[in-house]
This record gives sequence, structure tokens and C-alpha cells, in this order.
Amino acid sequence: MSTIILGIESSCDDTSASILVDGVVMSNVIASQKVHEAYGGVVPELASRAHQQNIVPVVDQAIKQAGINANDINAVAFTRGPGLMGSLLVGVSFAKGFAMAHKIPMVEVNHLQAHILANFIKEPGVESKHPTFPFLTLLVSGGNSQLVVVHDYLKMEMIGQTIDDAAGEAFDKCAKVMGLPYPGGPVIDKLAKEGTPRFQFNKPTIPGLDYSFSGLKTSFLYFLRDQLALNPNFIEENKCDLCASLQDTVVDILMNKLKKAAKLTGIKQIAIGGGVSANSALQAAVRKEAQKRGWDVFIPRIGFSIDNAGMVAVAGYYKYLAKEYIGLDAAPFVRTVI
Ligand code: KG4
Repeated sequence: MSTIILGIESSCDDTSASILVDGVVMSNVIASQKVHEAYGGVVPELASRAHQQNIVPVVDQAIKQAGINANDINAVAFTRGPGLMGSLLVGVSFAKGFAMAHKIPMVEVNHLQAHILANFIKEPGVESKHPTFPFLTLLVSGGNSQLVVVHDYLKMEMIGQTIDDAAGEAFDKCAKVMGLPYPGGPVIDKLAKEGTPRFQFNKPTIPGLDYSFSGLKTSFLYFLRDQLALNPNFIEENKCDLCASLQDTVVDILMNKLKKAAKLTGIKQIAIGGGVSANSALQAAVRKEAQKRGWDVFIPRIGFSIDNAGMVAVAGYYKYLAKEYIGLDAAPFVRTVI
């Protein structure tokens, strides 16, 4: 008999549901919320309202696309945190209702661990390569920048993290300063392809394996302020070069500590995950380094690097196999660590 997991993701501004059959993602429906674009960032109250509207049709579609019956589902895996409280509550409440109605167990999933386990996603008819344990992951998203040693599906060790902003946040905030739409990361990635990285910005000098991006953000802001005082059209005239320079700096900061972590741990299986792992320059840098250092590299395909329920279902599947269920009194966690 097959093991079927329903995955639910609602930690930020994407409502997503996925059906996983025996470890294979049969559907991964994502409803992205456009409502935040006008505000240049996610508005928590609007996000939770949109999740409430989206959750039922998204789950319905995921079940239909997978060609299964809701009564065949063995467990519900849901993102418990970290994320926005109002957004998480919608997914958590839905999971409880579904589990009660179908008399099936629930498994909680840590959103950050799910981003890492996205590297184990299997799709029907798609050949995919997966890491073996232990492997090292650079987890980079809108809210997190971490280096994690993955010992097992359910055993992860964080060895470095940002002490202030995340890499995605740096992209998004600098994009906002340039008048680019939200989320800024993909826009910067696109514009950078037409530019040259000829501007210099501050890079952090903190020791160890931790990251910091707030200094870069301030340096970028002050640089623009000074240039705009001399030429009010500076941003417009140099947009692509500004994007290329910013991206180059972020990638350099990320790669620096990743290389250090690989050296310190001696691990040569390197995975990346989270929304920023979709960045073309970061992917190119990791692949280039892999050739030089003999790394084996793992990068989730785009639909599984952003927030999605496929990764939640995969993470939930391993917890379900380990019988790590959670009760109906489970409450969301706004902040959790790996
Ligand atoms: O993982 P994710 O979808 O949500 C969080 O859990 O945060 O990541 C969203 C972040 C945003 O900051 C977005 O700008 C960034 O990922 N992002 C990118 C790219 N695609 C998404 N950043 C740089 N280059 C990209 N191509």
C-alpha cells in the first residue's frame, strides 16, 4: 500500500499544497500573493487574509492534480514555523481540521529544514540526483542565511547564520531603494545579466561562519545617496551595473563562508536551498567552485527553491516514517532554529 502525504505551506506569502506518494511529488500547487507588490514588501495582515482565501482551492487542486482521493491520504504535514504568525495560523488550522475530519495523524515541519530537504524531491519521470549524508547546505532565503551540516533527514546542525539581515532581505531592500518591484531578488538577477560589477560596497569582516548583510545594505544606500546628489539620474543610468555590483558582492559574501565551512568540515557534498538559491550568479559560483574543489553540488529546481509544499511533504514523509506525530494542540512558531 502507498504512503500518501498532504503537505501544507503558508509561512509567508505563498499558499501551497502538495501530494507526495511514496516519496514522489505528484503535485505542488503554489498560489503566490500579488497583493504585496504595491507595498514593496509582505504585509502580514494581507498575507493571512489571502491564505484564508487560497487554502481550500489550493489543496483541492493539489489532490485533483495528483489523481488521488482525499480519503487515501495517510498524514498531513504542515509548516509550523518559522514565519509570520497570521500566515502560519491558516496552514496550521487547516491541517488540524483536515486531520480531524480524515482521522489521520499530523506531522509538524520546520520550514528551514524543508528548504534543505527540497534537495531530496523526486518527480515522476524526472531523473534526479540527491545528496548522501553528511552534506553541507547553504540555506539562503528572504528571512534566513545559514550554513547547516545535514547528518540525517531529521538531524541537522547549524554551524553559521546571519547576525542581522538575510541575503534575500538585502536583495529586496536594495531593490526597493532603486525603485524596483518586490521581490527584488529575481529582478536584480535579471538586470545584472546586462550589467558590469564595477561598483564596490562594504563586505563584512566578522570572524567564524556567521553572515552579516546590514552593512552592505547601508553601504549601498549611502553610495546611492552620494551619487544622486551629483546626478539625479544616477540610478536610471546605471541600473544594470548597480544590480550586477550588488549581486556580485552578495554572492562573494555567501561563497566566502561556504568555502570556509567546506574546508573546516571536510565535506564535499554541497547543497543550496531557499529562494536565493535560484540566483543565477550564486548557482554559477557554486558550480565553478565545485570544479575547482571536487565538490558534488545539489541545487533544487526553481519551483522547489521558493516556498512550496512539495518540500514540506518530503520533510513530513520522513517524520511520518519515524512516527513523529504531533497533537491537535500544536501552535505555530514564529521563530525556530534548525
Ligand atoms: O525561500 P523564499 O521563497 O521565502 C522565504 O522563506 O524567505 O525566498 C524569498 C527570497 C526573496 O528575498 C527573493 O528576493 C529571493 O528569495 N529570490 C532571489 C531570487 N529568486 C528569489 N534572490 C536573488 N536571485 C533570485 N533569482
